[in-house]
Amino acid sequence: MNILTNKNHQKVVLVGDGAVGSSYAYSMMNQGLAEEFVIVDVIKERTEGDALDLEDAQVFTAPKKVYSGDYSDCSDADVVVITAGAPQKPGETRLDLVNKNLKILSSIVKPVVESGFDGIFVVAANPVDVLTYATWKFSGFPKEKVIGSGTSLDTSRLRVALAKKLNVDPRNVDAYIMGEHGDSEFAAYSAATVGSKPFLKFAEEKGITQDDLDKIEDQTRNKAYEIINRKGATFYGVATCLMRITKAILRDENAVLPIGAALNGEYGLDDIFIGTPAVINAQGLASVIEVPLSDKELAAMKSSAETLKKVTKDGLA
Ligand code: NAI
Ligand code: 2OP
Repeated sequence: MNILTNKNHQKVVLVGDGAVGSSYAYSMMNQGLAEEFVIVDVIKERTEGDALDLEDAQVFTAPKKVYSGDYSDCSDADVVVITAGAPQKPGETRLDLVNKNLKILSSIVKPVVESGFDGIFVVAANPVDVLTYATWKFSGFPKEKVIGSGTSLDTSRLRVALAKKLNVDPRNVDAYIMGEHGDSEFAAYSAATVGSKPFLKFAEEKGITQDDLDKIEDQTRNKAYEIINRKGATFYGVATCLMRITKAILRDENAVLPIGAALNGEYGLDDIFIGTPAVINAQGLASVIEVPLSDKELAAMKSSAETLKKVTKDGLA
């Protein structure tokens, strides 16, 4: 019995067993999350191999049923995580992947829904904000039951960079990257805090200039390209973000996390999934936390949303 949720069995299905998916599976195994973990991919041999490999870890973590499955396994799952899709090649943007990955996504969401799945979708394949919106459209699910990884990874990157500069623990830097998970994202510095102190004041006292902050924002925006140029893909960072989102759902945490959330008038926006802090629990999206943005940041949020809406409209046309 899981004492936190009163459920005696929790099940997660991963669709897409590539670099991101298999790293996520490993992270879930290490955290001892979900009693049943199913892996689905078009490459069946890979999912079988990964299940055999991962089950060997349970002796040192927590007993878990991990196996290679198919879409019928989604029928009684709590969470379906979608990491299936082409990754960027060096020089490509996330938005360049839209047509390829929308096709893959539609071939996945349909059989998941047909299985009778009634849990929470968590989407990570890129361009993630567009694909999260499309998952909502293709599934016919309530918006609250579809969550994107949004700017979770970007927010981690920002906090890591700020923590190095400020010489504090990254977990104590309460700062968010918002907007598109991609080139139009921005750092919401004006509302950030460190130990309850306004971040901009804290940074100023440490001798950090606006120019330094702009550079950190830029480096955060471009970090994926730096990693892809060196090792071909990024996966450990996002895998851990996905584990954290899944944990908040399975444990009904009401955790405040940066995710890709459906907006309903917040920031003057709707009919979009985009990066913002939000409260996550067993129902999925419990509520969006509307950050009090500066005028410049609000303009950046709106401009990022416009970019996403255009790509989404063209992609789904
Ligand atoms: P990968 O190429 O290593 O893995 C993709 C997997 O999807 C492969 O195993 C492939 O067989 C599978 N797949 C393809 N079509 C499928 C289908 N119709 N049904 C089931 N499985 C299918 O790629 P990687 O590096 O794992 O990246 C996956 C996605 O995650 C990419 O779109 C990438 O851009 C995205 N990503 C997102 C991040 C985020 O922060 N949201 C961070 C890093 C990557
Ligand atoms: C990342 O930001 C490529 O979306 C991927 O690492």
